Amino acid sequence: MTESGNARLLEEASAYTPGGVHTSIRIIDPPLCVRRAEGAYIEDVDGRRYIDYHAAFGPFILGHCYPDVVERVVAAIRQTDLYGVSTTELELALAKKVVEHVPSVEQVLLCCTGSEATFHAVRLARAVTGRRHLIKFQGCYHGWHDYLLRNVLSVPERVGQRDPGSAGMLDEVLDNTLVCDFNDLHAVERAVRDHPDDVAAIILEPIPHNLGCIMPRPAFLAGLRAQCDREGIVLIFDEVITGFRHHIGGYQAICGVTPDLTTMGKAMANGFPMAAVGGRRELMQRFNTRPGGDVYFAGTFNAHASCVAASLATIDVLETGKVHEHIFRLGERMRAGLREIVDRAGIPATVAGFGSVYVLYFMEDRPISNYTDLLRNNAPLFVRYRQELMKRGVFEMPMNLKRNHISYSHTDADVDQTLQAAEESLQAALAGCRAQR
Ligand SMILES: Cc1ncc(COP(=O)(O)O)c(C=O)c1O
Repeated sequence: MTESGNARLLEEASAYTPGGVHTSIRIIDPPLCVRRAEGAYIEDVDGRRYIDYHAAFGPFILGHCYPDVVERVVAAIRQTDLYGVSTTELELALAKKVVEHVPSVEQVLLCCTGSEATFHAVRLARAVTGRRHLIKFQGCYHGWHDYLLRNVLSVPERVGQRDPGSAGMLDEVLDNTLVCDFNDLHAVERAVRDHPDDVAAIILEPIPHNLGCIMPRPAFLAGLRAQCDREGIVLIFDEVITGFRHHIGGYQAICGVTPDLTTMGKAMANGFPMAAVGGRRELMQRFNTRPGGDVYFAGTFNAHASCVAASLATIDVLETGKVHEHIFRLGERMRAGLREIVDRAGIPATVAGFGSVYVLYFMEDRPISNYTDLLRNNAPLFVRYRQELMKRGVFEMPMNLKRNHISYSHTDADVDQTLQAAEESLQAALAGCRAQR
């Protein structure tokens, strides 16, 4: 199918860049190199068009090259860029919007990536508590830094063990980050009990979308909140995926549980490198952006006008209320359609998701509570099905457990076309997997 131009470009790039790509999980089989994108579609270097649900791991809530965003960015950078001194009217306008919409955020600082945001949130939590340990959940991803890069997509033998996400990480750093199962309050209580007065923060994706989609049990998030209040622990919601995508105020605006700190990114600027850490004023006041603050915060490119303008434009469109209504409705349609397809095929499958996010796992339809439950997913079939989708002009990342995102630019016709491709791809993938056995 797409080998030629895509494979050639990647091969040439590999001579100059290790692996030819600039983020470790951009390598897929078959290679896909995008030349242009518009709305719900991407086009590869051979001119093949795909309906895109990968959405660059999630930023595109409005769609690629969305005109309102592009126009605001162009207008902004004709008159402004970056000064590295004081603040700007644009930055103030964006900070006001985030504070207005996100329940936990009384003050906010802008940075460029989700990894920076979670790094700053953790350091702040340690500073305000004077404690060392962090609690994260098996399978959740919070960025590439040593504080949190452990026990992400662990192989089964490493679940419950020390599982660094990279060579070069220090054991002593890893061991300060404790790992619990998602939805297991007792495990969290035990971890806190075992480290008396030494847990600084609990950090979680309120919906772990790095695994596709695991919904929090109703009492889980409230239970964490209560536990943090009792023990003086900082509760951090990493809303880098859920923020703006599920609600303009993040998932916290839906679930009614308010963390102490929130990290945001991705959909916040519809594809521009914008992220933020925000939370209670009393905590945020410790950052040294304020004279006398003692928690270091900096970044040469923080709040570049192009990204701030993109974020303001994105939020303006979200404020109409039309985006969430549209993407939630299409998400429901997609999930219902996929359920019918797997029922007709009579295979073990689970359709999961929330709002605009959906994922089709190949495993029996039982409730999913944590990462261990997802080890039952038939990974070869999951990847093969998506490779078949690519042949039919639909791009869902052909990588185990990756979620799909619907944007405001996707249409009912796109969903119809995707469901038709899904039915054919499923049959082809099942036949392919059978033949390989
Ligand atoms: C929940 C979550 N937090 C943090 C990050 C890190 O964000 P970035 O890749 O912008 O550094 C990601 C990235 O996928 C994420 O999914």
